[in-house]
Parts: sequence; C-alpha cells; structure tokens
Amino acid sequence: MHEVRGVVARAKGEPVSVETVLVPDPGPGEALVRVQACGVCHTDLHYREGGINDEFPFLLGHEAAGVVEAVGEGAGDVVPGDFVILNWRAVCGRCRACRRGRPWYCFSTHNAVQKMTLADGTGLSPALGIGAFAEKTLVAAGQCTKVDPAVGPAAAGLLGCGVMAGLGAAVNTGGVTRGDSVAVIGCGGVGDAAIAGARLAGAAKIIAVDVDARKLEWAKGFGATHTVDSSVTDPVEAIRELTGGFGADVVIEAVGRPETYKQAFYARDLAGTVVLVGVPTPEMTLELPLLDVFGRGGALKSSWYGDCLPSRDFPMFVDLHLQGRLDLGAFVSETIALDEVETAFGRMHHGEVLRSVVVL
Ligand SMILES: NC(=O)c1ccc[n+]([C@@H]2O[C@H](COP(=O)([O-])OP(=O)(O)OC[C@H]3O[C@@H](n4cnc5c(N)ncnc54)[C@H](O)[C@@H]3O)[C@@H](O)[C@H]2O)c1
Ligand SMILES: [Zn+2]
Ligand SMILES: [Zn+2]
Repeated sequence: MHEVRGVVARAKGEPVSVETVLVPDPGPGEALVRVQACGVCHTDLHYREGGINDEFPFLLGHEAAGVVEAVGEGAGDVVPGDFVILNWRAVCGRCRACRRGRPWYCFSTHNAVQKMTLADGTGLSPALGIGAFAEKTLVAAGQCTKVDPAVGPAAAGLLGCGVMAGLGAAVNTGGVTRGDSVAVIGCGGVGDAAIAGARLAGAAKIIAVDVDARKLEWAKGFGATHTVDSSVTDPVEAIRELTGGFGADVVIEAVGRPETYKQAFYARDLAGTVVLVGVPTPEMTLELPLLDVFGRGGALKSSWYGDCLPSRDFPMFVDLHLQGRLDLGAFVSETIALDEVETAFGRMHHGEVLRSVVVL
C-alpha cells in the first residue's frame, strides 16, 4: 500500500481538494505508475460537475505520463522503469470489435481491478479509469504505452487524452487528407490538436472558429489558415464563404453543445463529414430536419479518444514531435502544483489557458 496525495472531487460542484489517497500494490495485470505530469482537461471539470456520472468521490486527472514503478503478474511487456503515457482505452483483444481487427472500437476496455481509496477506506472512482492527479496511480498494464522519454513528461501526458482526441478526430475519425478544407469549432486544447492534425494530414484550408479572440490567435500557431470569431460573425456563412460557397469537407465540433453541432452540420459541404469530439452533457438534445440529414449525405461521426490505438499512435506522434513536425509543447500553457488544480479549472473556464499541466 502506498500513501500519496491526490486531487479528489467529493461532491457535485464542490471545489476539489488534495487528500491522502491509498494506492494498493499492483495485482495481476496491473501496474503502479509514478506520475510525473498530468494535464487539466475539461473532462475533469465535467466529472466534478456531475456531468459524467454520480459515482463520487472521484480521483481526478487522466492526461498523464510517468514511470512504471511496479507491475503484477501478467503485465505483458510493461516493466518497471518504462516511461509511459497512460491511456484510457486498454483494449481487450477479445470483444467483437477487437476480433474484427478494429481494436480502436473495443467495447470492453479495462482498468485496474483493485480500488484506490481515501484514508478512511472510501473507494475512489478514478477519472476515465486513471486518476493521475496523484503522486502514484494504479492502472491496468494495458493502459501504459511506452514512448521515447526524450519528449518530456508534460508534453507527453497531453497525448494521453485531449491532444490525442483532437489529432485523431482529424486524422482517424475525420479521415482528413491532402487538399481537404477543414473547419474546427471550439479551439481549446482539443480543437487546436484537431487543427494540428489537419495540418499534418495536408489539409489545404483550416478554418478555426471560436467565441474567444485569444483562442483564435493561438489556433493560427497550430496551423489555422483562417479564423472566424463566432461571437460576432455567423460561422456557417463565414465557413461557406471561405470555401467557395460550399462548406468544408470536414467540420470538427470540439465544444460539445447542440448549437455548435448544428453549425458544424450546416457548415460542411454536401457529402462532407461532421466529427463530434466535444462531449455533451446528459440533458442536451438535438433537433434537425431529417430531410437535411438525408439530403446532405456524407457522414456524421463521433470520435471517442480520436479513434486512437495508443500502441500505434502515441509513439508515432512522439516521433513526429521529436522530429519537429508537431509541437506538443505548445499545448502546455503553464505548469502547476497538485494543489492548484481548482485554480486551473477557473483559468480553463475563463479561456486563459490551453492546458495547465500538473508536474510532480
Ligand atoms: N471525445 C473525446 O475523446 C474527448 C477527449 C477529451 C476532451 N473532450 C471534450 O472536448 C471538448 C473540448 O475540450 P477542451 O479541453 O479543448 O476544452 P476547452 O474548454 O479548453 O475548449 C473549449 C473551447 O470552445 C470554445 N467555445 C465555447 N463555446 C463556444 C461556442 N458556442 N462556439 C465556438 N467556440 C466555443 C471555448 O472558447 C474554448 O476555446 C470538451 O467537451 C471535452 O470534454 C473529448
Ligand atoms: Zn476489445
Ligand atoms: Zn481529457
């Protein structure tokens, strides 16, 4: 048993606090990881606000990198000393998706079996099965993906969630390819990663849309060729104007709201693709004329985790970073201590940062 400090959300909407967390030694198929860095993602805030489920208390944090400290039996090729990015989709290899050779859709991903607890024994629900705003965390060995440590923990950790989700929304789910026009609605960490992914894939035109002028400025640094401030301009009209009157080939929604989804739906060209990577809350609904859904053709897709396969995608994007073709470090707006997560939520909410990263 390891006694560590971790960031816990005890009740809906209440500020998070740093608590003593008890982490068991790894059992079969599990790995104990010494966390070195963990990014603050909007999904952590969704958890705190009860937007994901009611299984409080949560141990927050899930965009993390660190070093494997110990493993249980049957941990495969994960060994102590490995520098790893934690992933929240450890594929099972056995479900109907895995058997068909499409493991990025795995319907039975796994996490550590043993529970981490508060000092009084109360079981914690780790965010996305990770719980990495803590000095150490317990995960399934399959959640550890070894990468080149030269990337550094703060930048590497971000690939564990938001940056991978955005990159993958463009290159995996959206299938962005050379010459495409792409629009991205919502330019936080996820949206900017989608912009970076579109650039890597060779998109000819990349239109960034946000209601915050600062975000649009940053989006240019990741590859946006045009920007639209949708607090003052109708984004659908603006995107059509920028694409010869037709709309973009791929529109990526990275906010998670019905109104921005509708904008994405109408801002794409006929037979184009909409990718929803923003996460809606349970009470949200969407109304669209069914004739438009039919008549405009194309594909309406959602993207979990950028349809990534960590074993394939994490080392690849780390290599692209090390070659200078993808600047993962540019997503790190600030590094903070464990007890500053609540403040970081505020800064994220006010749009002051792309990613605050807890460094341990
Ligand atoms: N699908 C996945 O696997 C996955 C993974 C990680 C995060 N997410 C989700 O992606 C979304 C974005 O995450 P993030 O970390 O980038 O959040 P963020 O808060 O950093 O960014 C959201 C951006 O949207 C902008 N925005 C808000 N309302 C808008 C509107 N009406 N029109 C245009 N822009 C608007 C904000 O100004 C901000 O720049 C969240 O919903 C998050 O939960 C999904
Ligand atoms: Zn599976
Ligand atoms: Zn996340």
